[in-house]
Amino acid sequence: MPFDEDQVLGTLTLQEKASLMSGADFWHTKGVERAGVAAVMMTDGPHGLRKQVVEGGAAELGDSVPATCFPTAVTLASTWDPELMRRVGEALGREAAAQGVAVLLGPGVNIKRTPLCGRNFEYFSEDPYLTGRLAAGYVEGVQSQGVGTSLKHFAANNQETDRMRVSVEVDERTLREIYLPAFEHVVKTAQPWTVMCAYNKIAGIYASEHGWLLSGVLRGEWGFEGLVVSDWGAVHDRVAALAAGLDLQMPGIGPRPDKAVVGAVVDGRLPEDVLDAATRRVLHLVARSRTEPAAAPDLDAHHELAREAAAAGAVLLKNDPVAGHPVLPLSDEENVLVVGELARTPRYQGAGSSQVHPTRLDDALTALREVLGRDVPFVPGYTVDANPYQDLQLRTQAVEQARQAGTVVLFLGLLPADESEGYDRERLDLPTNQVRLLTALAEVNRRVVVVLANGSVVALTGWRRSAPAILETWLGGQGGGHAVAEILTGRRAPEGRLAETIPLRLTDTPAHGNFPGEFGHVRYGEGVLVGYRWYDARDVAVAYPFGHGLTYTTFGYDALTATVSGSGDDLAVDVSVRVTNTGSVAGAEVVQVYVRDPEASVLRPPRELKGFRKVRLAPGESQQVTITLGARDLAYWHPTLRHWIVEGGSFVVEVGSSSRDIRATAAVEVAGESAALPLDSMSTVAEWLAHPVGGPLLRGAMAAAGVPETDEEMLRQIPLEVALSFAGGAVAPAELARLVAAANA
Ligand code: BGC
Repeated sequence: MPFDEDQVLGTLTLQEKASLMSGADFWHTKGVERAGVAAVMMTDGPHGLRKQVVEGGAAELGDSVPATCFPTAVTLASTWDPELMRRVGEALGREAAAQGVAVLLGPGVNIKRTPLCGRNFEYFSEDPYLTGRLAAGYVEGVQSQGVGTSLKHFAANNQETDRMRVSVEVDERTLREIYLPAFEHVVKTAQPWTVMCAYNKIAGIYASEHGWLLSGVLRGEWGFEGLVVSDWGAVHDRVAALAAGLDLQMPGIGPRPDKAVVGAVVDGRLPEDVLDAATRRVLHLVARSRTEPAAAPDLDAHHELAREAAAAGAVLLKNDPVAGHPVLPLSDEENVLVVGELARTPRYQGAGSSQVHPTRLDDALTALREVLGRDVPFVPGYTVDANPYQDLQLRTQAVEQARQAGTVVLFLGLLPADESEGYDRERLDLPTNQVRLLTALAEVNRRVVVVLANGSVVALTGWRRSAPAILETWLGGQGGGHAVAEILTGRRAPEGRLAETIPLRLTDTPAHGNFPGEFGHVRYGEGVLVGYRWYDARDVAVAYPFGHGLTYTTFGYDALTATVSGSGDDLAVDVSVRVTNTGSVAGAEVVQVYVRDPEASVLRPPRELKGFRKVRLAPGESQQVTITLGARDLAYWHPTLRHWIVEGGSFVVEVGSSSRDIRATAAVEVAGESAALPLDSMSTVAEWLAHPVGGPLLRGAMAAAGVPETDEEMLRQIPLEVALSFAGGAVAPAELARLVAAANA
């Protein structure tokens, strides 16, 4: 309901302003009836609406109005399709609007630091560039419907273990290059209505009280115009949080925090300006929010969209030939046996605050029968609660039937309790009874297709060779079953790509040894080497690399060019390549552009994703794809100068079908910026001599004092002050001070 925020602000009492700083209940802000300020509702999120039936209370997680359960973020991310994200966002926005919800609490853009994070299904990727582009599509889509989003959890909430207390010890360069860019991109390009602060601490300070993050970086540097809301229960000191830039405390916990705010203003600890600015932001949220429900959306159309998104996010990991032909797609006449309880009891979303009550639910078994228009035999094969006696019986039955089958389609996956918000996973493996079943089936049938359902990667080591084809569907939402049936039978081509590396072993993963921390601290010791950056830097073999995914056709790349224009902030590198569908069916390719600085003076990852484009091509069709890189795509964060730096020289641009399937490479020369650090008396001789101003000054002073320039590396690595003292104090301290001042002038 639009109103003039400044005019209303001027009429509010101190108590009324303070009352707007915290929720009325679990899901609503407080209104000020006298001033015509309504209460608005926010609710989870992210992949569907979780509007609780019993409004206001914490209630049961599963107890919400029916809403379309779209694929979870892990599946959506594997689409590599920002345009599809926007359409899903629009549908989510329509459903929220119809329920009178002002803000949908998503998307979650935390980086997957480890595959063990229990909440990885709710996050997009191990890569910040991909995460940012996809999340921006989602935010634009939702907000185009007049519904706000909440970009969460800001920042560095990358594990569930001890999430409400743990202090993340991470260096600024790593924050800037890995954990913040997705937030930054979405804020700068899509202006989410709200940002949700994380529960955890960063370097000992709660995210809810982190002035540098909330006010300095988010608002000051990135120009965030919206409201900062707390994660539910993340505020510990209301006044400190408000001073740091946190506007709205959720959920409501009674009058205590509001009284604290009033008290702090009255006794001068909190400037009233700070309260006014936060109040204005709450008023702005209310003013732009819908208070009346919008028209009911077309839920059938949303179900179709959920199916489309699930199909687009399913990743065909392998599809080997058996007797000369790839196993997939299955012909309509194929004598198929479906095995696995998950085929009829799908796992389609994760546990916790994102749990949606779906409007409908496709299961793969029914969908396969529908698509083929005939009965398809099914055996459950295993129990979900791993009952050894029953498992043995079910396995024996499955093996008997598999002997007679042409192809076995086996549904495997993690169980709800294996991954959830609130705690982390302990292992990467599938349940033992499921792997045992696969091994037994593979002994009697060579054509076993595995369909996986899990929210974060599972280890394939030990069983991968038993299955000539593997389709990873992640947690595909309410349309996932139908999507799988269409992909298996070739009615849709698979087109998903891995947004996270599938490692061979847990011990290979980047955070291993630094996760989940000890005694309240977790140290991000791997620094910027997260995900494929780590495996590539260490040359570690993986099961399937970041960006990988097969389809039913093949693609060729040629005619790569990379052309540099402009300089400084206007630097542009136009990367252009021709992609051709070289197979006999239509399909989608995700063209990926990676950048490397081979001459970097600091540790940089061997390759970083800086562009991608999904193209759909008919057999024989070609398309020229052009992706433009900017200065930021070549830059690293300089920890001492504290800004982005492009080092001049050559850069390598790689274009490929995955991070380990590079099809074409080009080198470009770019002019860089100086990263000269200020000199002081403890800068080394080598640093002084390399400095554009300090070098000549020092040479002059040494010549005047009769000290010869050294080319001995051991001496060159000594701080100047020490070196000069070794030279018998040839240059006096006052002269050295003068040199320092002149060098930095
Ligand atoms: C979660 C948020 C969620 C909120 C409200 C918190 O525990 O971390 O992601 O939006 O609860 O349910």
